[in-house]
Amino acid sequence: MTQGTTEEIQIVPDHIHSWTDGGSTLYPLSETFISIVDPKPGEYILDLGCGNGEVYFHAAPRLGPRGLMIGIDIKDSNIAEARSRLKKEVQKDWPGVEFLQHDICDLGSLPLLRNEAEGWDVITVASALALLQEPEKAVRHWMHYLRPGGRLVFGVPQPCSGDRRIVAERVSRRSGIQHRSNRDWIVNENSLVRLLGCAGLIVDRMVVFKMHEKHGGGERYHRVEDGEQVFEESFTKHYAEEVRQKAKDLFKEEWKKAAEDGERVREVHGFLVAAARKPADPIGPIELAGGCRCGKVRYTASVSPSPISYCHCQTCRKLSGGPYMPFIDVPSSAVKFAESTALRIYSATEEAERGFCCECGSPIFMKYHNEPDRIGLLMGSVDDDRWDEKLHTQEAHIYLREKAPWFKIPEDGWPRHAAMTDKGEVE
Ligand SMILES: C[S@@+](CC[C@H](N)C(=O)[O-])C[C@H]1O[C@@H](n2cnc3c(N)ncnc32)[C@H](O)[C@@H]1O
Ligand SMILES: [Zn+2]
Ligand SMILES: [Zn+2]
Repeated sequence: MTQGTTEEIQIVPDHIHSWTDGGSTLYPLSETFISIVDPKPGEYILDLGCGNGEVYFHAAPRLGPRGLMIGIDIKDSNIAEARSRLKKEVQKDWPGVEFLQHDICDLGSLPLLRNEAEGWDVITVASALALLQEPEKAVRHWMHYLRPGGRLVFGVPQPCSGDRRIVAERVSRRSGIQHRSNRDWIVNENSLVRLLGCAGLIVDRMVVFKMHEKHGGGERYHRVEDGEQVFEESFTKHYAEEVRQKAKDLFKEEWKKAAEDGERVREVHGFLVAAARKPADPIGPIELAGGCRCGKVRYTASVSPSPISYCHCQTCRKLSGGPYMPFIDVPSSAVKFAESTALRIYSATEEAERGFCCECGSPIFMKYHNEPDRIGLLMGSVDDDRWDEKLHTQEAHIYLREKAPWFKIPEDGWPRHAAMTDKGEVE
């Protein structure tokens, strides 16, 4: 992917050619989604969270008779619908297909897929990733089924902090209720880049599908005081009577927080598609080592290619004495401390904690409480001789709204964000 470039495609109603029924969320995006998947004749595609088989019906003419597709969905009724649709719509010269009922987070127990030695050419996941509780774990799991050089293409709702469904997710989380979707982690395109990078995939394309108003697209603004009304319109029946009032109050609170300028809540409905590739020659975890200046904090970290972010926030600047702190994002479990007698924790904010050496003052890591599985290691703490360029996948400048006035960012082409969230990119 050219660094920091997200394409935009306008979805106009004219693009609708073959919508057969309303069971698919991919409608009216199917053709555009498939053009990004770009199936080649004879390829093998694994379609995860296949619903009523929408991806198959659009990919089939391109795959041709030598191709193969397996669609997997957890819901029996969706599999039944996909199969009956197949009976009615199948055409000569279309590829073989099977629709199977199964959990896409547990493909290992599916006998048909055990034969994974050669791997699949393509894995598609249209609108199912944002329903999984552990998306990153799922992507790592799917990687085993992809051949080297194989592609993963998935679509998620376009990130938007004011999306009422995300606000409702926050309410459920605060009420200790498991929500059916899990979209709050999709803050912007970088959330996907990071997810893919951490699973060892290379991102080729990132595309926003801008929906037509006819399909609920476009931007809408709501008043901050309308939280109660929005709750009643959309969520009343999601909550049992005994928790409804509490949910409503929490919704109003979260709705208010989602207001960009304290007055208006912005909702955008679109679709964000990422196309990535498993390296033809996969890069296994590389053993890094690092520590502080005096040696009283030492770690090793088994790291796969990971993104690096340059945080320009004021806290990072104060704590480093520099214009930003560069972090490499790695799984917490990959980091082992060989020496930690002088390791201390400092919490500058409620959101995160930072590890540093109390003898020499070197900063070592930062960890967000809401992401206990991830840790940001300070790049400056990594031993130079253990660094491997192959680890370097993506970069971004974040929290530029707090950037030092005296610092000029080099023209490096990486994405630049006002915050970590989608509060807007800055030039
Ligand atoms: C929003 S629909 C999308 C269906 C189809 N891909 C489309 O775009 O038309 C998401 C699908 O993912 C399925 N799903 C959700 N969690 C799943 C899981 N853990 N395993 C398998 N399927 C799952 C749902 O049953 C649903 O059919
Ligand atoms: Zn030290
Ligand atoms: Zn920072």
